[in-house]
Amino acid sequence: MNKPIVIALTKGRPLSQLIDLLARLGIRPKDNLKQSRKLVFPTNDRLVQLMVLRGMDVATYVEHGIADVGMVGKDVLLEYGGNGFYEPIDLDIVKCRIVVAGLVDENSLPRRIKVATKFVEVTKRFYAHKGVQADIIKLSGAMELAPLMGLAHRIVDIVETGDTLRANGLEEKELVAEVSARLIVNKVSLKTKYEDVQDIIKRLGVLCP
Ligand code: PRP
Repeated sequence: MNKPIVIALTKGRPLSQLIDLLARLGIRPKDNLKQSRKLVFPTNDRLVQLMVLRGMDVATYVEHGIADVGMVGKDVLLEYGGNGFYEPIDLDIVKCRIVVAGLVDENSLPRRIKVATKFVEVTKRFYAHKGVQADIIKLSGAMELAPLMGLAHRIVDIVETGDTLRANGLEEKELVAEVSARLIVNKVSLKTKYEDVQDIIKRLGVLCP
């Protein structure tokens, strides 16, 4: 008998759009993913299970082959690196940007700036590429506070509508990367569960050309 395909979804803001996309594939969880405290969910297809995780953990579970397939933001993939999975499809949903932001009324910047972010690797690469000296301060949330309270000159963060920046007197200064949700596939699963995984890739390819 075939083993179930395990699909890892990113919790939080992306989840609704990911559930809608799965529904278009005919995959429907048996429980309400947003309300349930469960972490693994059966679906109407007894050969498909869903897991709901933070973005970084989606990448980790797929890299290690516990989940065969994942749906996760490009922001996470840029930060995570890793080479245990392929990224065959841009799902073209949950779109946002990684940007450098700073105070609207900011003083002139020193040569060596402080940048607060949770995207440490992305930020290092960005400033190294520009040849700008940046000390990176790792934060895990509420990034917008950092320039406001004088912890850092700039932040590197996700912007979707721009409302959070505006509400805190910040503005976008530079674009780092455009972001959308991606399908990732464990390299081994693609071989051992070839038909089922390939079927998902093909059907998503038709929906997200
Ligand atoms: C993200 C990001 C910003 C906000 C931007 O945080 O860190 O704070 O969304 O969205 P906007 O441009 O539409 O205002 P999120 O709410 O996802 O929570 P997080 O801090 O846990 O990442």
